[in-house]
Amino acid sequence: MTEPLASASRILAIETSCDETSAAVVDNGTTILSNVIASQIDLHAQYGGVFPEVASRQHVEVIYPVVEQAMREAFIGFDDVDCIAVTRGPGLVGSLLVGMNMAKGLAVARNKPLLGINHIEGHISSVWLTEEASDIEFPVVTLVVSGGHTELYLVLDHGRYQHLGGTLDDAAGEAFDKVGRLLGLPFPGGPAIDAAAEGGNPLAFKFPRAMMQRKHGYNFSFSGLKTAVMRQSKQYSRPEHLPVRDLAASFQAAVVEMLVTKTARAAEDYGATAVHLTGGVSANRALRAAMVEAVDLPVRVPPPLLCTDNAAMIASAAHWHFINGRRDTLAMDVFPSLQLV
Ligand code: KG4
Ligand code: ZN
Repeated sequence: MTEPLASASRILAIETSCDETSAAVVDNGTTILSNVIASQIDLHAQYGGVFPEVASRQHVEVIYPVVEQAMREAFIGFDDVDCIAVTRGPGLVGSLLVGMNMAKGLAVARNKPLLGINHIEGHISSVWLTEEASDIEFPVVTLVVSGGHTELYLVLDHGRYQHLGGTLDDAAGEAFDKVGRLLGLPFPGGPAIDAAAEGGNPLAFKFPRAMMQRKHGYNFSFSGLKTAVMRQSKQYSRPEHLPVRDLAASFQAAVVEMLVTKTARAAEDYGATAVHLTGGVSANRALRAAMVEAVDLPVRVPPPLLCTDNAAMIASAAHWHFINGRRDTLAMDVFPSLQLV
């Protein structure tokens, strides 16, 4: 006799794909009981970017206390957990392995089912952790825009995605981080540029907007923009002469225009009921404001803590797989270049 499908879930999830060590307990993919995030940003700031070997060592250091804290803050024991979920990819191989081994160890020791989750599906699912989740009707156009990814999806249902387009070179967050370094701003560049741009003139420099015509579909390119900012910065003989605020505001305006134009076009073309912004860059205030302005649809953006990497979003994605009966085996391995569709 096969077991009846579960309709509810309490999932302990682990996320270690990049530079955040996170563990969370989430009920039914929507209600967060705990979401502990140990960020390594300070550790990597001295290198101006994420140093993979340092990242994996730090995950090893903190993974146990982070999982323990997530369980403690949720006020539950392992008997109350239905499933262990873990990010399988995409991400840094050494970092992913730390989370995967921890999850497998827990699944064996506590005799729990195991689910390996795609990190991008986690970002897409982060919207279901917000208060409006019960209102969501499909299809939805979701922009996943982070340090590692800039991808546009049509979400037809939970677990059913159509890839519409994505970046052909740098991710938008990567461009923010590189330009931030160029302007002498602290790492990560995204929040620093967001803040610096506030006092700047977005029209001060006319930076290029790439691939805007329809023939380029829903793809993006940010490397030309990055080069244009670099070229402009070289016009100043001393770093202290750089018009940092104007450069930041003009760069940000170009990124925002590219992201908003393609996302709004996709929403119209596919008759979306809403636009969702997810991933670290969706914490950007100018992007949020411009998207709301551009589309005549609800624009849902999770709070900043759920935009950047966190385990609650992995638990949310895992819920829909869990109630549909999916179970992974202990033979599952990490997959650094895992694709969603
Ligand atoms: O989702 P995330 O935590 O990690 C990846 O999966 O990549 O995203 C991190 C990225 C970084 O590139 C960071 O600079 C960017 O998100 N970011 C922002 C803002 N906050 C974080 N970019 C623009 N504006 C922000 N306010
Ligand atoms: Zn991410």
